[in-house]
Amino acid sequence: MVISNRVARADPRTTEDAGASGGLAVAVREALSETAGLWFGWSGQLSETPALHGPEMQPGGYRIATVDLTPADHRGYYNGYANEALWPVLHSAPHLMHHDADRYTAYRSVNRQFVDRLLPLLHPDDMIWIHDYHLLPAAEELRRRGLRNPIGFFLHTPFPAADAFAALPEHRALVEGLVHADLIGFQTASDLRAFQDYIRWEAGGSVSMDGRMEAFGRHFRASVFPISIDPAAFALTAERNADSDYCLKLARGTGRGALLLGVDRLDYTKGLPHRMLAYERLLELQPDLRRRMAFVQIASQSRSKLPEYVAIRRELEEISGRINGRFSEPDWTPLRYINRGIPRETLAGVLRMARMAVVTPLHDGMNLVAKEYVAAQNPEDPGVLMLSRFAGAAQELDAALIVNPLDHDETARRMHQGLTMSLEERRERWEAMMAVLSANDVSRWWRSFVRALADAANPTAQPPTG
Ligand code: ADP
Ligand code: G6P
Repeated sequence: MVISNRVARADPRTTEDAGASGGLAVAVREALSETAGLWFGWSGQLSETPALHGPEMQPGGYRIATVDLTPADHRGYYNGYANEALWPVLHSAPHLMHHDADRYTAYRSVNRQFVDRLLPLLHPDDMIWIHDYHLLPAAEELRRRGLRNPIGFFLHTPFPAADAFAALPEHRALVEGLVHADLIGFQTASDLRAFQDYIRWEAGGSVSMDGRMEAFGRHFRASVFPISIDPAAFALTAERNADSDYCLKLARGTGRGALLLGVDRLDYTKGLPHRMLAYERLLELQPDLRRRMAFVQIASQSRSKLPEYVAIRRELEEISGRINGRFSEPDWTPLRYINRGIPRETLAGVLRMARMAVVTPLHDGMNLVAKEYVAAQNPEDPGVLMLSRFAGAAQELDAALIVNPLDHDETARRMHQGLTMSLEERRERWEAMMAVLSANDVSRWWRSFVRALADAANPTAQPPTG
């Protein structure tokens, strides 16, 4: 049984549903398809009298049940506290936090409402797996109602330095709620370390070597479970969609030169302006490359009413306009910025045709696009992955071209290195990354979490190893 704010249908109704749901939806959908579980969360609809929809069977073999949000709760809980307070703080940008006590009240209230709606759907032997920062208090709400089932929590975003997290006025209450889970999962070892620091120094708790922790009078465990994809299935989809109409049009539009590609939700954590500025630098430094390549940025709309997201969109329009104004030729456009999501199958084909994927977030829990790009490559002639050191994926995919996205000169030099890399080196790097992906796929992600949760919830069990 999974609970998260965002729920993905197996048969997305629109292109936006299909493309822009984010890493959580993509990975949980894959996991649930293998387990026939129930997925509970927000319907994506607003209503003054929130209704429960479902449970309803999905073609993928799992059930979904969803509730609406009132417009006031959507403002306070989702836009307000989750996305304007928690999101920036978790991405180490506390200066972007907009805090307001009423939003926190709405956040707590929606967590209570979700749990009240969920309870009648639960069976005594269900494991409950809560996902992401929207639902930090949900485990506490479940326990308050007397629920004794195993509860796990997985954080899809990074966990910041302990004192950055403490910028949230309610940081103690949030962690006190969270530790009602038996197991807390993080994307990377650095996220886990930051959380351990918080438990020790801010919460006055204790952390033992075997992953057991104690804080606020609760005993729980925390560990690392890097999220992933199904690389074999994605590779097949990419191969089948390599000649789609979309790919052919894209190839025509880039004058058949090398394609540098960015694919992201339009979010200020993704480093999109920095990426474009680095490309501008490359155009300045390497005039000989100008007509032999083109940059395409596909950025789907996300949280588009929030001022930070409006601002980043404007900034990108300005930068992309300037770059094209400076460098376009009558028959060559250096940069195309497409402000829409595309269906997953089409995306797989597009990733396969790109000579280089430019995945340069300023902070990112994991970044599945990086993994999808690797899986989508043609093994005979693989492209190059440029990856920010600040993406969780960089801790696994260290054979990528790792960059500091804030250093535009270095990023431009690395773009040049990637575009001129020998086939032999591209193959070597790709094989190393593919080996990591094959060993750590999405199935391993959820299976190891579920196993560790079963152990954590059983007080006589040994702590998980590895
Ligand atoms: P996040 O969860 O922050 O959005 P991830 O890279 O982990 O970042 O996951 C994003 C998921 O959504 C990936 O599966 C990716 O393919 C998909 N996606 C992101 N942007 C787009 C886009 N512009 N069009 C289509 N799919 C997208
Ligand atoms: C990130 C978050 C997810 C979220 C996704 C899309 O991946 O970790 O929880 O679902 O972004 O954002 P949205 O606000 O559209 O759900």
